[in-house]
Amino acid sequence: MTSTPFDFTPLIPAGLPPAAVRWTGRAKYDFTGGNNDPDSLPLEGLIAAAEAVMRREGRTLASYGLTSGPQGYRPLREFLVAKLKADAGIRCTADDILITSGSLQGLELVNGTLLARGDTVIIEEDCYQGSINRLLRLGVTPIGIPLDREGMRIDALAAALDDLKRKGVRPKYIYTIPTVQNPTGTILPVARRRKMLELSAAHGVPIFEDDCYCDLIWSGERPPAIYALSERGGVIHIGSFSKSIAPALRVGYIVAPWDVMSRMLPLKTDAGSGALEQMVLAEYCAGNFSKHVPLLRRSLRAKLVTLMESLKEHFGEAAEFDDPRGGIFLWVKLPDGVDALKLYQPALAAGVVINPGPEWSVNKERARSRMRLCFASLSHEEIHQGVAALADVCRKEFGVPR
Ligand SMILES: Cc1ncc(COP(=O)(O)O)c(C=O)c1O
Repeated sequence: MTSTPFDFTPLIPAGLPPAAVRWTGRAKYDFTGGNNDPDSLPLEGLIAAAEAVMRREGRTLASYGLTSGPQGYRPLREFLVAKLKADAGIRCTADDILITSGSLQGLELVNGTLLARGDTVIIEEDCYQGSINRLLRLGVTPIGIPLDREGMRIDALAAALDDLKRKGVRPKYIYTIPTVQNPTGTILPVARRRKMLELSAAHGVPIFEDDCYCDLIWSGERPPAIYALSERGGVIHIGSFSKSIAPALRVGYIVAPWDVMSRMLPLKTDAGSGALEQMVLAEYCAGNFSKHVPLLRRSLRAKLVTLMESLKEHFGEAAEFDDPRGGIFLWVKLPDGVDALKLYQPALAAGVVINPGPEWSVNKERARSRMRLCFASLSHEEIHQGVAALADVCRKEFGVPR
């Protein structure tokens, strides 16, 4: 008997994403991903919530969807109805909400419902890599709109919509992360939200609002959601508990009118998102969310200050950035001679992982010397040491900082 190993390669269809690289553990100084602050995780509260809800309702786990139907655990949706009204001005009912496995599944479901190969959508030029990659994989063309310090530039959006109209192209949606944008950290002011809605109405293009960082504004005051400002619908809103509680829970949500919801539900083929997570979140959040989030924000803000001070100390003038009003990322511009994609490997070899700018932008050239740093999950000491190590590598590779 020969022991030639079975070869799956010829069976794998064309068009799959590139093969994954095996995980070898986290780097010493990992500034990537959307991870959260482990010390701010409300662990005791989640443990108590799990115990209480399991003792009270645990037997409902015997049914798919608990006793809440396919849109997710009803008490969690009811918590969201109250939260979205209080924080974002959204008036909706539990029937307008679908609980998803992270807001990534929300992205998949909205895309699955609205997009076909060859379509065009509008996005912010610098944008969440997960959104850009999904669009490219679907064969959809993302048109990037430049941002300034107040988020998506509305003059550029208007020009892009006019240009597409002249070409006979009606984009499928305007995708925006208006409240603490990823990666730039900008917040779209109310006036721009209203203008975006006017353009959306004039061109018949809906808005896809991704609001997963909305709880992380340092001041605690957020503008109303675009969904809330719309008087005629045409907005789909997604959110997440990843950034406010914990990303590993994998709980997000979609708020959408029934004509969209009814088309998304058949695409959610996992027979419901994890019930335990939804139950624990509902139990915990009802009494504790509004107390927990300010503590998390304070801790994140302090880490951001450490990151900005470390960059000033070790990079000096070579690192340019705006002080973001919230979130977990800093979008850093290095001198033009630095190629962030080429900085990645030597930095990794020194134990520092960064997100190179071109992976977070549709304008690869403009983002060439930029990087995104997540400051949430490292300790203050690690942030400081990681930036020092990164500066050493950057100096060796590119001669900056001097
Ligand atoms: C803008 C944006 N949308 C969606 C997601 C997905 O988050 P999750 O699936 O954990 O809710 C992320 C994660 O970083 C994000 O930055």
